[in-house]
Amino acid sequence: MEISGPRGTHDILPDESSLWYYIETNLRQMAELYGYSEVRLPIFEHTELFERGVGDSTDIVQKEMYTFEDRGKRSLTLRPEGTASCARAFIEHKVYNQAQPTKWYYIGPMFRYDRPQAGRYRQFHQFGVEAFGSQDPNVDAEVIAILVRIVEKLGIKNAELHLNTVGCPDCRPLYRERLLQYLTPFAGELCNDCQQRLNKNPLRVLDCKTTHCREVVKDHPTLHSYLCERCGQHFEQVKSMLSSYKVDFVLDSQLVRGLDYYTRTAFELLIPDLGAQAAVGGGGRYDGLIEECGGPPTPGIGFAMGLERLLLAARKQASQAWKISPVMEVFVAVADKEYDRDACLLLDRIRQAGIKADKDYLDRSLKAQMKYAGKNEARLVVVIGEDEIKNDCYILRDMKAKEQQDVPSSQIIDRIKSILVTS
Ligand code: HAM
Repeated sequence: MEISGPRGTHDILPDESSLWYYIETNLRQMAELYGYSEVRLPIFEHTELFERGVGDSTDIVQKEMYTFEDRGKRSLTLRPEGTASCARAFIEHKVYNQAQPTKWYYIGPMFRYDRPQAGRYRQFHQFGVEAFGSQDPNVDAEVIAILVRIVEKLGIKNAELHLNTVGCPDCRPLYRERLLQYLTPFAGELCNDCQQRLNKNPLRVLDCKTTHCREVVKDHPTLHSYLCERCGQHFEQVKSMLSSYKVDFVLDSQLVRGLDYYTRTAFELLIPDLGAQAAVGGGGRYDGLIEECGGPPTPGIGFAMGLERLLLAARKQASQAWKISPVMEVFVAVADKEYDRDACLLLDRIRQAGIKADKDYLDRSLKAQMKYAGKNEARLVVVIGEDEIKNDCYILRDMKAKEQQDVPSSQIIDRIKSILVTS
């Protein structure tokens, strides 16, 4: 019986991987432009890291983690997100002793036991940035600008930035009380998840997606009138800087985010074209996380974006001709099997000159080799036949211009290069 991939995973075959490569290259360039360097962290961590970092009462920790016991009876978890691992590495390597801020980015697979559907997978990929060590609201604006500009650079239109503040441990408790007072009379009407959330984290009820819960919270008191002075000033500065950067945003008092570590700024970038899974990226400030994970008090802010969703949006809008480099620049064809060894040696010369090249390995006729080269979009074909061997030259066929010429063996590499440069 055939074995298929596990539910919620997907294969990225070569046809698609060139697009991934293109997007990842753009993401890396953008992160580096803003002063972020890449970290590569493990795919599994001690389960406790996420329980403490992401939060015990979150959906991620309660329902979505791939947790297992290893042979040494340790509880390990496939990372559901990247921020907690960055915080752990920042503390473990005492990076806080270096000049701050620390600006990191990462790209890699994440794992959540979610209900799979378009744009939602159990293994998916995130690109994320994290800036540790500064409370400056201009860092918030910088981080948000990266997210928005990536999407713009990929030619994706109609993205909507939603912005909110979730306050800090000074001002949030008072608001929590007030919100609880508002929600309690409706407790029986809330969905099962929200009934649980009501006591653990009533703010999460605000961003429940079920129609009835949305109706219930319609007239909720907003945190904005309960913010402490410092949180209020911080939020004003973030908004003002974003406006100066000409980054449009929608104030969204219901945006709470599903992870417990957030303080102050919270944001999400939505692409309505994506339907139910419209959030292409999200993030916020987490000034208590490093301390929660055992490090010295250190502020932080970051975001992560889902690459599958980014690709879906890019494809849907098809607003950009993706610049994907061809797999094959030159194909070496033989008129007869007896020149196969010459073809191998020429191929080796071409590849050593840094040009992508290939040949036939299935004993095809010359006609079939030309067809194969065409299918693989080879720009040039070099043909080796009896006359060519006798005269120490090759036929060089330009598949785009549909022209061919005889080229002496000693000049073949230069001639190939000059055609490729001008194409
Ligand atoms: P998050 O909102 O849980 O935040 O995930 C960020 C993005 O990952 C989402 O906006 C979405 O595009 C993508 N994503 C999440 N779950 C799935 C899934 N099951 N399938 C496909 N894509 C998915 C975080 O993970 C935070 N660590 C972000 C952050 C970084 N906050 C501060 N720094």
